[in-house]
Amino acid sequence: MSNTDHGISKVAVIGSGQMGGGIAQIAAIAGFDTVVYDLAQPALDKCAALHNKLLARAVEKQRMTEAEVDAAKGRITYASEMTPMLDADIIIEAVVENAEIKKQIFADLVGRVKGEPILATNTSSISITDLATSVGEAADRFIGMHFFNPVPVMKLVEVINGLSTSTRTTERVLALSGAMGKVAVPANDRAGFVSNRILMPMINEAFYTWMEGVAEPEHIDEIMKLGMAHPMGPLRLADFIGLDTCVHIMEVLADGLNNPRYLACPLLKQLVTAGRLGNKTGHGVFDYSK
Ligand code: 3HC
Repeated sequence: MSNTDHGISKVAVIGSGQMGGGIAQIAAIAGFDTVVYDLAQPALDKCAALHNKLLARAVEKQRMTEAEVDAAKGRITYASEMTPMLDADIIIEAVVENAEIKKQIFADLVGRVKGEPILATNTSSISITDLATSVGEAADRFIGMHFFNPVPVMKLVEVINGLSTSTRTTERVLALSGAMGKVAVPANDRAGFVSNRILMPMINEAFYTWMEGVAEPEHIDEIMKLGMAHPMGPLRLADFIGLDTCVHIMEVLADGLNNPRYLACPLLKQLVTAGRLGNKTGHGVFDYSK
């Protein structure tokens, strides 16, 4: 199959947050007609402003010409109602990591779309087979496309098949990921897939290491950065991802893999209880308010 055999010209993204906005940006740059849908107009405005900023930076850095940036911007529609995305060839959901909310969105969508779009979810750990139950007979077109933050920078898309995902859907998504400038790597549908099955227990262990007084947070991060060549230490990365998201993913692992070894560290949970969620609240493990 050629790299362009995805049959996709229009990409819709549900959710205009960090992940949805990033996915929309790389889709538009890659030449796809792109719709970003979000119920909240302020979130869409923020997303458009970030696109403008990052695309201006791409010109400054001579990665794109002004003409290319203008063309990419011209391909993006910011929509606060669903209609403009209903004729998309693929719809990628990137809303909050909550199975019930995701299922509700897909259930609403599946009766309204024109044609037979691929239905993709950017979930970081929730079972694709479970989410696919919300779309009935369209389960063969349902798939996981797990992007990484920041989307324009990170090369990987983890592609996850549910039990009913058709081979053709997988092939098209692998080709599309390549066309979007990403390296797609397949994984099967087990809690956390590959990426978070390995990353999150490491982050969780960093919290235990801190809780048990083995080292201060700065030193834990410094050891992992300098000794393991990680771009960020695990505690800084936890703040970047969101401590609430880390707890949530650990819960999905513990539940989905039936193993208490995946339970979230009490210190990690305590910070979440205190509202210290990381970058998004200005304070997590580290304080970003200054
Ligand atoms: N959007 C777009 N571009 C961004 C960006 C963003 N949010 N943040 C940084 N960049 C770009 C910068 O513009 C810069 O490019 P430029 O020099 O050409 O302008 C480049 O990335 C490097 O940025 P900085 O010089 O500001 O900073 P760093 O060199 O420290 O890199 C980083 C920042 C790329 C975030 C790097 O620290 C890193 O790779 N960290 C690890 C990130 C990671 O592990 N992500 C995966 C998280 S797990 C996940 O997403 C899965 C989920 O399910 C939990």
